[in-house]
Amino acid sequence: MEQRRILVAVTGGIAAYKVPELVRTLIRAGAVVRCAMTREASEFVSPMVLQTLTGHPVRDHLFDPSQEGEIDHISLADWAELVVLAPATANTLAKLAHGLADDLVSAVLLATRAPILAAPAMNVNMWEHPATRANLEVLRSRGVHTIGPEAGELACGWEGLGRMSQPEAIAAAAESCLAPNDLAGEVVLVSAGGTQEPVDAVRYLGNRSSGKMGFAIAAEAARRGARAVLVAGPSSLPTPAGVRRIDVGSALEMRDAMTAEFDAATIAVMAAAVADFRPSQSSQRKIKKEDLPDGAGLTLELVPNPDILAELSRTKGERTVVGFAAESHDMIEAARRKLTRKGCDLLVANDITQQASGFDSDTNTVVFVWPDGQIEQLASLPKREVAAQLLDRVMKLRGESQ
Ligand code: CTP
Repeated sequence: MEQRRILVAVTGGIAAYKVPELVRTLIRAGAVVRCAMTREASEFVSPMVLQTLTGHPVRDHLFDPSQEGEIDHISLADWAELVVLAPATANTLAKLAHGLADDLVSAVLLATRAPILAAPAMNVNMWEHPATRANLEVLRSRGVHTIGPEAGELACGWEGLGRMSQPEAIAAAAESCLAPNDLAGEVVLVSAGGTQEPVDAVRYLGNRSSGKMGFAIAAEAARRGARAVLVAGPSSLPTPAGVRRIDVGSALEMRDAMTAEFDAATIAVMAAAVADFRPSQSSQRKIKKEDLPDGAGLTLELVPNPDILAELSRTKGERTVVGFAAESHDMIEAARRKLTRKGCDLLVANDITQQASGFDSDTNTVVFVWPDGQIEQLASLPKREVAAQLLDRVMKLRGESQ
């Protein structure tokens, strides 16, 4: 949400006490936040608190010569890329559904062309009233996004639906409202993490991949409207919102899952660090030292694993297939050879010896390598940003091939 302009419009309900936390969450995510409030809202949360957090004057009057001098209500409505209405009272929802504009918040809501995200909060009976239900139906049919309310104990003493959603959930919903929908219609299949090649009942051969890069790609694809499927090697990372996750262990399991999902995919990204070899045999039981001659070592025979990326690329048809290349030396030349050998449409090379691009790092420094040998070096960026840049390139490729 870096530098995205969000207007938080606050109306008069007890849940307004959560708004400072919402504002802080949005600002932490990089957004530029302004607040507008009704007079009633200023009874529940001080404009001074919101002014201090946002660094901008907070308006609460529709026509106030001193406040209009700062930024008039139409400019405020135009300024916003997204209006978050939190809490959204039954009264304000009713006004918006009927086009009333008799206070600052309802006037801004009517004047803005930005998307609106409403986080309702009210007494359960008000929420369930047919008038509120009908107003919400009208608003949703006009494209107003809503989040919540949640069930629980209400400030008025009643139990039931009516609590405003938590600030983090509202901020996450705001982020998806702002996202471009340019991957709608695409099915993005991503592999992530390392694989574990069983040696015996307790041991395996693995690698140091964290899965962060692949998880970031799946998250970004879902955020931009794609159906995202994540085939993940063993990882404790949480499943990103809107992503379907399939957990696998070994390279052979990953190959089975990727092959099965590839049919329905339009884009495949192999970000996983697949083990190139696996033990030719793995014991169902634990290998015990006492079963070996005294002082003897243990020799494992390794056999090659299938190359999943090369297999998928061979049958890709109209799909766009992207590979990664983890290199420790001679990066560009090795990546060019790898791209030719595997037959994918784009290769993302990274030098794993660099601190800012190694395993488990939150950043990555990558070079895009294209089939014609061209390269494009990116600066060191958070993995989520690398994911965004990668999907931009993929969409450009897909646009060119149509
Ligand atoms: N890959 C794969 N199946 C394998 C090995 C790798 O699909 N058995 C994919 C990886 O997911 C990555 C790309 O191939 O997208 C390159 O992986 P990398 O480990 O850099 O290359 P390798 O093919 O393993 O070659 P080497 O280890 O010799 O550099």
